[in-house]
Amino acid sequence: MISSTQQRVVGQPLNRIDGPKKVTGTATYAFEHSLDDVTYAFPVQSTIAKGRIGSVDASAAQAIPGVITVLTYENAPRLNPQIEGELAVLQSNAVAYRGQFVALVVAETLEVARQAAEAVVVRYEEQPHHVVLRAGSSDLYKPDHVNPAYETDTTSGDVEAALASAAVSIDHTYTTPAYHNNPLEPHATIARWSSDGVTLYDSNQGSHMIRDRVAQAFGLEPERVRVISPYVGGGFGSKGAAHPHVILTVMAAQVVGRPVKFALTRQHMFAVAGYRTPTIQRIRLGTDNDGRLVAITHEVVEQSSTLEEFAEQTALPTRMMYAAPNRLTTHRLARLDVPTPAWMRAPGECPGMYALESAMDELAIACGLDPIELRIRNEPEIDPETGHPFSSRGLVACLREGARRFGWQSRNPQPGSQTDGRWLTGSGVAASTYPTRRRPSTAIARVDRDGRYSVLIDASDIGTGAWTVLTQIASDALNVPLERIHLEIGDTLLPRASLAGGSMGTASWGTAIVEAARKLRERLQEEHGVIPAGGLEATGEGGENPEAKRFAMHAFGAQFAEVRVNRDTGEVRVPRLLGVFAVGRIMNAKLARSQLLGGMTMGLSMALHEESVLDPRFGDYVNHDFAEYHIATNADVGTIDVSWIDEDDPYINPMGAKGIGEIGIVGTAAAIANAVYHATGIRVRDLPITLDKLLS
Ligand code: MOS
Repeated sequence: MISSTQQRVVGQPLNRIDGPKKVTGTATYAFEHSLDDVTYAFPVQSTIAKGRIGSVDASAAQAIPGVITVLTYENAPRLNPQIEGELAVLQSNAVAYRGQFVALVVAETLEVARQAAEAVVVRYEEQPHHVVLRAGSSDLYKPDHVNPAYETDTTSGDVEAALASAAVSIDHTYTTPAYHNNPLEPHATIARWSSDGVTLYDSNQGSHMIRDRVAQAFGLEPERVRVISPYVGGGFGSKGAAHPHVILTVMAAQVVGRPVKFALTRQHMFAVAGYRTPTIQRIRLGTDNDGRLVAITHEVVEQSSTLEEFAEQTALPTRMMYAAPNRLTTHRLARLDVPTPAWMRAPGECPGMYALESAMDELAIACGLDPIELRIRNEPEIDPETGHPFSSRGLVACLREGARRFGWQSRNPQPGSQTDGRWLTGSGVAASTYPTRRRPSTAIARVDRDGRYSVLIDASDIGTGAWTVLTQIASDALNVPLERIHLEIGDTLLPRASLAGGSMGTASWGTAIVEAARKLRERLQEEHGVIPAGGLEATGEGGENPEAKRFAMHAFGAQFAEVRVNRDTGEVRVPRLLGVFAVGRIMNAKLARSQLLGGMTMGLSMALHEESVLDPRFGDYVNHDFAEYHIATNADVGTIDVSWIDEDDPYINPMGAKGIGEIGIVGTAAAIANAVYHATGIRVRDLPITLDKLLS
């Protein structure tokens, strides 16, 4: 445990230590590594959503000067048959979705590879496809569990009876469209084989995870695969798993016997790098005469591909948010002829809390209660699902502090009651939550005879600030100034660490670093403070948290939104967002603010702009670029006020830090939708809130 009296560096709003490298262009991203004799890959994508490849004619492509090879299912090396689904790339002639990789050109230049990919002629035997998610569809099924290993359904009491006799009840269905992860840096991989095995420069959220998948696919000892990823330009979950391009790059480098570079284009990312499943969510809530919930149901329908089952845990937050004696959550999945969905920032909580927190707003109106008061009345004493106490639960404090800062008291609850010229104005609130977890990680702390410290851990900085925060944690844990600590991350030669995902990075890696530092200081004491000639080294393991068996551990927040809706055009503006979070101890106030601000901005983008549009005739996402897939820009964002309450949670990890990478996006869309209702009296239950939905 780092006691607060010892703390000198943790908490300080330090600038990113990798900042100068990034702004001077000397932080080398995956595709930027320069290798001798390098070649370039460009894929061919299927133009049908379901069927078989009849034949591939690559002769015209092969004839283009500079083309080295064209890989297809006919000539590609066979992978380990254990590799199934998306990663079994070029292993058969089956086509599972439009945009799937069906061939790969390797050439001397990127331009030639791209031109040659256009020249590959693929003939298909097309079959009818099913790509549209429908709530009543007969092919929905109950997956064994939801991501990553939660119960698919939970039930207690008798919700039907409770709803039938409730004093007030609501029953509404909310939908969210597919969304695509769009990190600034598209996915990219370089592979180079040598007698030692294969080395990858790859953009990912966990080098060891990529190593494991490559080793498995190619039947290699993991030690023969090295993955180097010190700088990553965002991921939002889509770099938390290996995608087909990684396997193709390694395969191509093996075939041509030279290094291969493969960068996905922005358009490729809309087919082969994961996305957030669309959801159809029915929520029923019932209360007694005092606005106390007697029943909560949350029934979710969502999709996956035919290749892989990815079942998002959309109803998960509903299991722990509010108290009620009768409860039901379910998830049903359709396996469609579409690309495989995957993680996108706060999978589960993000779409799930849009629905639940919209429904709570509707219930507050039905009960004639202030929406903050309704939430406070239904605050659980213990986790309703597990019966465990919360290690800390700051929701009410966040709601109260947010209301004070936002000026909630002066709000007239009547919808459509506030105008400013031709603009209707309104405000809304929603709760936010995200689990607090950690995963096993290992770190080495080392000191050389000159008193220079090194901390080694295969952590990933995907733009979050891990380079800085881990150095801060190490500085305090080792009790040496920041400047004397040399951190190394993003390389499988370093000790194995968990993914940058699930908002678990700082908790998992920090725990290992604190443990390694503690052991190193012990060794140093044994040496009476004299560093031996060979230096000293200690390994720290940060395991699963045993307290997680006794406590429910979650971060909380309150999101407030002010909106303006133009009476004539339906245009929605969000001049102000305010978020107050209870996220344990803040490791770096500047970086924490950036994380939460980024999450809230992405939530605004989800509420108003983002929507992946599927063309049912062809089965692909058609708005596959930044011209047509709209993401909030600076001009769309007004004032965002981010703050947090003091929270001391001794159970979660030695730093007392809860994850902050994802909670910022949770609840924002509901707060905006609730504010739009307050402004207009129109309840939009189908995101995004576009002007056509407000003009009817
Ligand atoms: Mo996050 S979607 O768990 O990388």
